This record gives sequence, structure tokens and C-alpha cells, in this order.
Amino acid sequence: MLERTRLASELALRAGELIRDAMGVRRNVEFKSAVDLVTDVDRAAQALIVEGIRGAFPEDTIVAEEDGLASGGASDGPSPSASAPTGPCWCIDPLDGTTNFVHALPHFAVSIAFLDDGVPVSAAVFDPSRDELFRAERGQGAFLNDRPIAVSSVAALDRALLVTGFPYDRRVHSELYLEYFREFLCSAQDVRRYGSAALDLCYVAAGRFDGFWEWKLNPWDTAAGWLVVKEAGGRVTDFDGAPYDPWLPRIAATNSAIHDETLAVLARIAARCGRSISSFGHPRLRRRRRGCSGRDTRSRRRPRSSGG
Ligand code: IPD
Ligand code: CA
Ligand code: CA
Repeated sequence: MLERTRLASELALRAGELIRDAMGVRRNVEFKSAVDLVTDVDRAAQALIVEGIRGAFPEDTIVAEEDGLASGGASDGPSPSASAPTGPCWCIDPLDGTTNFVHALPHFAVSIAFLDDGVPVSAAVFDPSRDELFRAERGQGAFLNDRPIAVSSVAALDRALLVTGFPYDRRVHSELYLEYFREFLCSAQDVRRYGSAALDLCYVAAGRFDGFWEWKLNPWDTAAGWLVVKEAGGRVTDFDGAPYDPWLPRIAATNSAIHDETLAVLARIAARCGRSISSFGHPRLRRRRRGCSGRDTRSRRRPRSSGG
């Protein structure tokens, strides 16, 4: 096992213990936006992980969710518009599922990935509530608590259990996100919303879910789960089937067998919602005024009434 793979698991376990000890204790909760929470526990867990990486690999870049803590690397303070940094880079979500944590709902995780020139090499996702450590190393398979895991063999979307999440701009773009939810609800066996993208991906890897899609996640949410799914035999792409990279605003991850059908549904929604959907989420286009459907509404006019 590579030294960085071992370190990722060790730090995920240690940060998870810190979070578990803090469960149920009254927290200092701040709002990053109307629906995006952060606590002192997110920050303490991140400090522990960053310190551990800095101690072992001081030159590595760190892309971590909670600003102001990661220092030294070339690309701190991540931006969804940036591409993966070159060279050795860590992507850290110290607490994925903060809303669950704040509500004492035992479903959240520590997510740590190591990438080299944008290629995922090591991953660890630890769920301290269930004592489940998902880990993967490039070319070495995926594991849950040291047992190898594999994606499900469900071959039809109609029989698939899917999972998704909703981005933090969901109050502005609710119609668009619900359009995806509605379409998959009608195409798959069922759909869940659990509140931790890192665990959603690991559950696809472990065959608990058959597929996952979400808009506008960040590298720290998906980088580790991406590798775990790939190493478990799954497929991860952009909504149009292009190769995934965690700096993209869309992710579709499946057991491979239902991937083409999943992409066909995503294409159907994109066609219905308009061409602008492929660039929705692109920072340069964000300033445009958009309706809830995600369509650009600047020049749209109401049809004239024809009746009299
Ligand atoms: C969130 C979770 C959630 C997803 C959100 C994420 P956080 O991460 O992964 O499942 O739907 O988009 O931001 O804020 O709890 O670290
Ligand atoms: Ca997250
Ligand atoms: Ca987080």
C-alpha cells in the first residue's frame, strides 16, 4: 500500500473519532449561506487532517473545504471554476453531511483523496457512526473495512435504486433539480436523498445503490468516492458521458451496467430543459439571470395573447 493511501485512511479514522466524540454535544453552528452550515467540528477535523498531511508531505497541494486552514500548497481556497492542480494534491472534506451531523442524524463522513496530476491515486471515506472505512488505491481495488467491495449487477434502470443530492443554490434552481428528480423517479425503481455525497458514491461502490447523480458538487465532495466507485467496477462521467473530473459541476456514477440508460435519461432532460443546460453552472455564465428551470431568461418574452 502506498504511504499516502495509508495516511489517508489513518487521518480519516482519526478525524472521524473526533467527530464521533462531538456527536450530540451542542455545536457552534454558522451559516455559509441560507442552507449551507459549518461547525467548529468541521474546522477541528480539517485542522487535524491538514496537520497530518503537512507533517508527512509538506510540499503537497491541499484543496480543503473550510477556507483559511489549508496553507502552503499552490491551490488553496478551491474554486469550482479551476481545474485540478498539477502534481500531488489532496482533496479533503472534513465532514461531508454537516446538516445531518448538526441534526444528530448518524449519516456523515470524512472524505480524503490524493490525486497526482489530476489522476486519483488514493481515497479514504470514513463513516464514524457505522465504523465503516471505504478505501481504494489506483489499480488495487476498493475495500470496506478491509473486505473487497464491488458494484451491483442490476442491469436495468427500471430495477435500480438511485441516490442524489441537491446543491446549495437549490432555492434558486429548484425547478431544474426537481426535473431531474422527477424523471429518475419515473424511470428507476426508486430514488433516495441521504445528505452525504461521499457516502452516496461509496454506497454505489458497495452495491447498496446502483447509481448516483448530482449537480455542482466540489472536488472535496467527490474526489475520494470517484476512485472508490472506479475501483469497485463502476463508471463515473459527466452528464454527457465525457470523462469525469472533480472540478466539473456534474457527476453521474453507476454500477456501469445502467450507465448508458442513465445517460439517456440525462440527455432527455437536457433536451427538454434547453441547450443552455450544458453550460449551466459554468462560472462565466452565472451572472446571467436565470429562471428556476435553469434556462437563460434574459431575452425571453411572454407569448402574446391571441384571443380577444
Ligand atoms: C454536502 C453533502 C450533500 C450534497 C451537498 C454537499 P457538506 O456536503 O455532500 O449530500 O447534496 O451538495 O455540499 O456541505 O455536508 O460537506
Ligand atoms: Ca461535502
Ligand atoms: Ca463538508
